[in-house]
Amino acid sequence: MNAESRTPIDAPTRRDFLKAGTAVVGGSLLSSMAFNSGAYAGGSDIIRIGLVGCGGRGTGAAEQALAADPNVHLVALGDTFADRIEAAHDRLNHRSTADRIHVPPERRFAGFDAYQHVINNCDVVLLCTPPHFRPMHLKAAIEAGRHVFAEKPVAVDAGGIRSVIETCQRAEAKRLSVVSGLCWRYDPGMRATFAQIHDGIIGEIVAMQTSYDTHGLWMHPRQPSWSDMEWQIRNWLYFTWLSGDFNVEQHVHSLDKTAWAMRDQYPVSCSGTGGRQTRTSPEYGNIFDHMAVVYEYPNGVKTFSRCRQQDGCSVDVTDHIFGTKGRVDVMNHVAYGHDGKELWRYKGPKANMYQVEHNELFAGIRSGKPINNGHYMAHSTMMGIIGRMAAYTGRKITWDQAMNSKEDLAPAAYVWGKIDIPPVAMPGITPFV
Ligand SMILES: NC(=O)c1ccc[n+]([C@@H]2O[C@H](COP(=O)([O-])OP(=O)(O)OC[C@H]3O[C@@H](n4cnc5c(N)ncnc54)[C@H](O)[C@@H]3O)[C@@H](O)[C@H]2O)c1
Repeated sequence: MNAESRTPIDAPTRRDFLKAGTAVVGGSLLSSMAFNSGAYAGGSDIIRIGLVGCGGRGTGAAEQALAADPNVHLVALGDTFADRIEAAHDRLNHRSTADRIHVPPERRFAGFDAYQHVINNCDVVLLCTPPHFRPMHLKAAIEAGRHVFAEKPVAVDAGGIRSVIETCQRAEAKRLSVVSGLCWRYDPGMRATFAQIHDGIIGEIVAMQTSYDTHGLWMHPRQPSWSDMEWQIRNWLYFTWLSGDFNVEQHVHSLDKTAWAMRDQYPVSCSGTGGRQTRTSPEYGNIFDHMAVVYEYPNGVKTFSRCRQQDGCSVDVTDHIFGTKGRVDVMNHVAYGHDGKELWRYKGPKANMYQVEHNELFAGIRSGKPINNGHYMAHSTMMGIIGRMAAYTGRKITWDQAMNSKEDLAPAAYVWGKIDIPPVAMPGITPFV
């Protein structure tokens, strides 16, 4: 089984996939009613999980889901590429939870429609592909009545965000869980720090500064047998249509922390700048390697955000929140007064936030109290998208303009063939769409 052998014959488009939704889930073994009637309340029933996107994060998420609950079984794997499925299966089989992995070859699905087959075979689905595909995968999962773990970010354009918001509202109505991979929200030290901010330890927030300056990431050299589509999906980080650009893909963690500080209120506009200086060759697709964006809130608060992926430069992944009575060093969980004296420092227990998010997902399913992180996972992703729009166009963009954007980054069809790469954005020339 390989990706080429499962080439969609009729060249499905994003619209087709979004419309198809539940088309193949008629054979579902378990309806959403089962969850709602408290089928898992006792903790002794088996919960079947399926993974879509068998890469580094997906494999990690599957391990954490298995560790979260002794009666979770992994029953289906899906990826565009069979080699990724086999690698994930092999890695998971070397973990202590290997006895709960039951994924025979007939439940390993490769191709663009793999997600539909995985959804069809499980109760909880872990969505861990590149973010371009998240809106369609999430929609299909919720329509089929599945609980979801959705890695960040959850879309790459405003159309995707609108779809995710609608889907998460449906999840709420159906009492289905949507737990986000914005993992800092599940970190005990971070939770305590934001509780202090919300309780007023630094007074009213005046400004925030958030940086995600790091080095370059992995890149897989193109192989002669790869079509454009295969090359781009295997190097999804570098194509705006797949990753949303690096400020959406990576810096979303930081932007989400600023949103958390603002009690999930979002900015009304932003302006920014950016470009590419070091990753200029074709293997790096069409994304930028540095961006700086200023976000504005209605009450005058501003967030100064910056991100960079350039080798040989200083690494700075920090967030600082300034208030009328002091400031917080978010990553170190410390609050200071204006005189520099420490007001508070987190001294509580540490926990692996990636594990906590799965512990709480499965505990919520067992207790009949589903968690829905839909609001912040969609809107914090949108903060990245509007920042990219501002940096690409060189224009100030309002939140309302961005949310109504007609930009659709999807390729004409999901087929293993040629795809043109849009030019690298040029501020002042690239239009707002
Ligand atoms: N929360 C975190 O800290 C964190 C850390 C790393 C990655 N992530 C996120 O997790 C997601 C995956 O990242 P990764 O590092 O695992 O990338 P990866 O490249 O290792 O894995 C992605 C996998 O998805 C597969 N895929 C691509 N398109 C697909 C499709 N249409 N259907 C099925 N499978 C498809 C790829 O072949 C690949 O195996 C991204 O959204 C990323 O931003 C989150």
